[in-house]
Amino acid sequence: MSRTLLVTGASGQFGRLVLDALLASPGGDRIVAASRDPSKLADHAARGVETRRADFDDPASLEAAFQGVDRLLIVSTDAIAVPGQRLAQQKAAVAAAKAAGVGHVIYTSMPQPEPGSPVSFAGDHWGTEEAIRASGLPHTILRNHWYFENLVGSLPQALQSGQWVSAAGAGRLADVSRADCARVAAAALTADTTASTVEEVSGPEALTKAEIAALVTEITGRRLAVVDVSDDDLRAGLTAAGLPPFVVDLVVTFDTNTRLGRAGTVTDTVKRLTGREPERLRDFLTAHKAAFAA
Ligand SMILES: NC(=O)c1ccc[n+]([C@@H]2O[C@H](COP(=O)([O-])OP(=O)(O)OC[C@H]3O[C@@H](n4cnc5c(N)ncnc54)[C@H](OP(=O)(O)O)[C@@H]3O)[C@@H](O)[C@H]2O)c1
Repeated sequence: MSRTLLVTGASGQFGRLVLDALLASPGGDRIVAASRDPSKLADHAARGVETRRADFDDPASLEAAFQGVDRLLIVSTDAIAVPGQRLAQQKAAVAAAKAAGVGHVIYTSMPQPEPGSPVSFAGDHWGTEEAIRASGLPHTILRNHWYFENLVGSLPQALQSGQWVSAAGAGRLADVSRADCARVAAAALTADTTASTVEEVSGPEALTKAEIAALVTEITGRRLAVVDVSDDDLRAGLTAAGLPPFVVDLVVTFDTNTRLGRAGTVTDTVKRLTGREPERLRDFLTAHKAAFAA
């Protein structure tokens, strides 16, 4: 029997990749893309995807959007500037899923989000996971590692000076491509099981920042060296550069987390759930070389 699969946040970068993966996989499931602004989904609507409006800040929209949904992917939102906002949004989504009788919930979390995580926004993910568990709904928690794509945002500036200021020490990062995470989410959506599981989604290797810098230098021909500093010095430097406090917190606590060895666990999840080997950082950087040009 055909099932109805719904993706929230479908107009975001991750949501779009999930829709692409769903459209590329065989199967008679009905695909529904939900966004705050469904007009942004015209390209996917033209490919046969049904669109609905769903805004986690508007519970009535969720009640309507989740009607008749068998399997639901809740994509975590980007509302991290205001403490508590994202958790409230995502709890509203879980409550609406429960009220609508959704059969299985999938959620994009982060590695090791339990209390005690140094990461500034870990509580949003842990609180949402706990809300899902408390709902009693069958679920798959996808603890996605940091995307390779974050490096496209952060490294060009470091390359200008040739210095990548870091408090991560010798900690390792098992980063993964956004597209691999999206393929895993699509696989979880189309799976036949309603067993509740937690899956940690990593790339194929765990590299130190010094190793990543060496790869960047090799691929771009531009020198990049890691400059090791303390958390306090990193915080002071970012604050002096005028970054908003929540961004300073995020960058510093990411590095603390890495240094403590909490971001470096390599798992087989991508291969196991999608049948494909995860992309390597070397290949990702090569494909995105233009973003690191002088
Ligand atoms: N692992 C990592 O390294 C990493 C990096 C960046 C972000 N993330 C997380 O992964 C998520 C997806 O990443 P991305 O790259 O696709 O980010 P993105 O392109 O910035 O997308 C932001 C997402 O938040 C959704 N959203 C914002 N406010 C919402 C609301 N009120 N109700 C429902 N949805 C709302 C958007 O949905 P619509 O606009 O379609 O409504 C969109 O899917 C992010 O939102 C963030 O939680 C993870």
